[in-house]
Amino acid sequence: MSLGKDATLEIAPDVHWIGALDPDLRVFDLILKTANGTTYNAYAIKSPDGVAIIDTVKEECAEQYFARLESVTRYEDIRFVILNHLEPDHAGAVPELMRRAPQAKIFVSHRGLRLLQATLKDELGQYEYCLSEDGECIKLGERTIRFVHTPYLHWPETKCTYLEEEKLLFSCDVFGSHYCDDRLFNDLVGDFRFSFEYYFKHIMRPYKRYVLEAMDKIEALSPRLIAPSHGPILRDQPMQYVRSYRTLSTSSIPIEQGKESKSLLIFYMSAYGATADMAKSVYEGASDVEGVLVSLYDLQGGEVEPFVDLIEDADGLMFGSPTINGDAVKPVWDMLASLVAIETKGKLGAAFGSYGWTGEAVGMIEDRLRGLKMRVPEKGLRMKFHPTEQELGDCKAYGRKIAQVLAGKAKPKEIDFADL
Ligand code: FEO
Repeated sequence: MSLGKDATLEIAPDVHWIGALDPDLRVFDLILKTANGTTYNAYAIKSPDGVAIIDTVKEECAEQYFARLESVTRYEDIRFVILNHLEPDHAGAVPELMRRAPQAKIFVSHRGLRLLQATLKDELGQYEYCLSEDGECIKLGERTIRFVHTPYLHWPETKCTYLEEEKLLFSCDVFGSHYCDDRLFNDLVGDFRFSFEYYFKHIMRPYKRYVLEAMDKIEALSPRLIAPSHGPILRDQPMQYVRSYRTLSTSSIPIEQGKESKSLLIFYMSAYGATADMAKSVYEGASDVEGVLVSLYDLQGGEVEPFVDLIEDADGLMFGSPTINGDAVKPVWDMLASLVAIETKGKLGAAFGSYGWTGEAVGMIEDRLRGLKMRVPEKGLRMKFHPTEQELGDCKAYGRKIAQVLAGKAKPKEIDFADL
């Protein structure tokens, strides 16, 4: 690293990077590994009529940020403070910035107001702020700044800011990488392809459909330069990264079943074979239903990650687990925990399992499925020890019913929540 603590970088005429380097960070937001740290990118747009600041940095890095900001402008010249996103890694220095530049007008998206209140607390009343609309433009001297809302990339309030004359998109978390290299431009830094995709998978993947909507807007702008809030600034072939987001947001698994078919995946673990027997009967029953492609997987024989890709494209999921020590077994929890990385809202879910004493696993799995905003149309199926022939018939009927609901051939049962 050779960039001095107050050194800035002019990324376009009178547009300066004033962010912070955090090369020693190893875990971001508790979930992302950051093998060579990250950057918090913030920018200053200068004009004879004042300065616009785009975002701040994590509070712990504020010293770098203010040193860089002071090397390109005076606080009294700041007219606009544009906040694309109010997560603390970008808004951490906002309270101090506003104390130093209280005359500046703050711009957030309309969904950002509550977060702005939470950031500035009682001090908010001292400042002027504006809740921007999608597509709204403001003028900074001869320059035109447009707000491009990109909801759910990756928070509801997230937006990008576009400097029209330069065709420069300040894209915030979108197109970011947790990759720290003080050469900053994508054609100068090391190979960050892994970081770019890893970041997408952990930050943007659950919001793929919103990503595709945002790419429509960004493709229409055709930016010449993309300046995200983490990692390299994309000046070489910026549209290649837009195309990458489109590709990453499109299913990676070829759809082989007919368009009208629904995909139902059944996962199970079994200690003594009882839950495995239930799973096979559930599978047989579900397979009877036309228009549903059913797959059965023993979690003992698979890794979680490839299954996550399958699950992302599936319409229905069933989980079978025995109850051991009053809980579902770890491989099932590992899989359920990994689903946070994909969109599960609206998928159909169900659970079953064998037990010895109390049988809590099924209810716990159902709670998790509901927590993932899945539909759970039937009460889960629990059986004590090995199922009898008659009980295996009940398993078949259960699988058939779930598949019928999935195919729209049966209505979900009204569940009495007192039974749960
Ligand atoms: Fe980089 Fe959502 O914060």
